[in-house]
Amino acid sequence: MANKSVWSDNRFWQRSAAWITGFAAVLLIWLTFDTMGQISMGNDADFKNGVTKRVPGPTVINYKITYEMSTKRGHEVPIIGGNDGQGMSLFQEKEKFFGRDDWSEEEAGALLHLGKLGSQTKNCMNCHTLLGNGAYYAPDLTKAWLDPAWGPEGSMQAMTGKDTKEEAMAEFLMHPSTYPTHARMMPDLGITADEAKGLVAFLKHMSSIDTNGFPRNFGKIQGAVHGK
Ligand code: HEC
Repeated sequence: MANKSVWSDNRFWQRSAAWITGFAAVLLIWLTFDTMGQISMGNDADFKNGVTKRVPGPTVINYKITYEMSTKRGHEVPIIGGNDGQGMSLFQEKEKFFGRDDWSEEEAGALLHLGKLGSQTKNCMNCHTLLGNGAYYAPDLTKAWLDPAWGPEGSMQAMTGKDTKEEAMAEFLMHPSTYPTHARMMPDLGITADEAKGLVAFLKHMSSIDTNGFPRNFGKIQGAVHGK
């Protein structure tokens, strides 16, 4: 009895189990709060105060968004309203969205909400992935707004006969089968002009989310529309 090993002592295993369970519980609670802080949506005041949020507020639709290499982080990051030269957003350069760059927090929020509902009722995820969730039939939409194909140099504005990115995208969403650009065609889903506007706002907002460089190498694919 005198030299019974600790490894065969039941109390040792009971105490270890209690400590590990307790530690894991504390860690999970801490991680939950940390994640909530990281993914909570910002607001309009953040842009004015130069506060960078991982998920910017809805009025991000008033700003120019680009996707630029951050040498510090080793991948592309969304830059909102101009780059300070160090890979941080300046929140200064505006960009008109359907003719306006003064969408209020309520208006922009309502537009995003409409887009989000539209993406659910039309089930975009049945074919596409949003932030990595969904199906793999069609391109990931996380950074679709930043796809150069929709920009002034891309083919979509000329093809749809529109001269802004948002109008070209809205036109495509309303009549995708009129503009087939890919081996697979997106079917007409009966999307109305208002829904299309909301969906484009939803896509523009989504592109501004800092996803740690996901999807990988997006900027180098040169147009998910044409991407194979
Ligand atoms: C039945 C499958 C299907 C559904 C549902 C669908 N799409 Fe698509 N979508 C496609 C395919 C296929 C393409 C590629 C078409 C092409 O390039 O011509 C595409 C292309 C796109 C593009 C261009 C991609 C890019 O990177 O520029 C956008 C934007 C888009 N879809 C948005 C949506 C939205 C928003 C919804 C939901 C309202 C939706 N799609 C629902 C199949 C679908």
